[in-house]
Amino acid sequence: MSNKPRVFVTRLIPETGLQQVREHCQAEVWEGELPPPRAILLEKVKGVDGLLCLLTDPIDAQLMEAAGPQLKVISQMAVGFDNVDVEEATRRGIPVGNTPGVLTEATADFAFTLLASAARRVVEAAAYVQAGRWKTWGPMLFLGADLWEATLGIVGFGRIGQAVARRARGFNMRILYHDVTPNEEAAGRLGAQYLPFDDLLRQADFVTLHIPLTPETYHLIGARELRLMKPSAVLVNTSRGPVVDPAALYQALVKGEIAAAALDVTEPEPIPLDSPLLTLPNCLIVPHIASASINSRHKMAEMAAANLLAGLRGERLPNCVNPEVYTR
Ligand code: DGY
Repeated sequence: MSNKPRVFVTRLIPETGLQQVREHCQAEVWEGELPPPRAILLEKVKGVDGLLCLLTDPIDAQLMEAAGPQLKVISQMAVGFDNVDVEEATRRGIPVGNTPGVLTEATADFAFTLLASAARRVVEAAAYVQAGRWKTWGPMLFLGADLWEATLGIVGFGRIGQAVARRARGFNMRILYHDVTPNEEAAGRLGAQYLPFDDLLRQADFVTLHIPLTPETYHLIGARELRLMKPSAVLVNTSRGPVVDPAALYQALVKGEIAAAALDVTEPEPIPLDSPLLTLPNCLIVPHIASASINSRHKMAEMAAANLLAGLRGERLPNCVNPEVYTR
């Protein structure tokens, strides 16, 4: 019998991280393409010392109970952790790790990619060519919105929101931002102006969301907010799907209340095949891949492994979302 700690890893993750886990632990890795079904997850965590999980795994009281009192650490390979009941983990004295920072630039790159793709109708135009419909250069063919000197509204001015602002400077954009508390230092450095939420929605040509999913941000963008936006505006979401009300978004796109949306995340995920949003040419949807650069995913895996191993050794996690667990 190995005396290495027992851990469960809920999916195959990049080798840089997995190799660390395998070297130091008795690791069981779920190798399915889909997340482990709930009943299996509850079974697999029984008696483990550590859990390395993903945003697709609901980590709640029932699961922590199923794991047992020896569970020392929950390490999530993502920056967002709305799938984890952190309060419950804290109550049980379990530190929860996440992977901030290493995916900031990749996610900001991708938010800008979506923004530009939706503005200039890249996916629609590529489908037009593939369908054999390209007959000639057309003076009116696929006209889209300018990025250069447009007004960008950033909702959530943390690491990723600020990284998006840095990119916007290269396009000479007017940069507006909104957050629960204004960040004057970052705003000054990035030439961004704080606006109340509704004013940002009214003035922006592009609205990009960089906020966590919390009870306060659930359906933050709904029918009222979409009506405040310009009819020419583009909405970009790389945060969490439920921040946007999908039914309200569909109505706004159909009625022309906004021009387009580009979504990396949806409610629910994956988006159901019968979602009316999938029928709209002005709604670009991709499968939650904003952080999916090779570099960034490798670093996320390494960081998740580092959190896991620190927790198993009883050390403070390098990136802990509930540091209060150490002062209880
Ligand atoms: C996160 O890290 O929270 C992203 O949604 C996936 O990388």
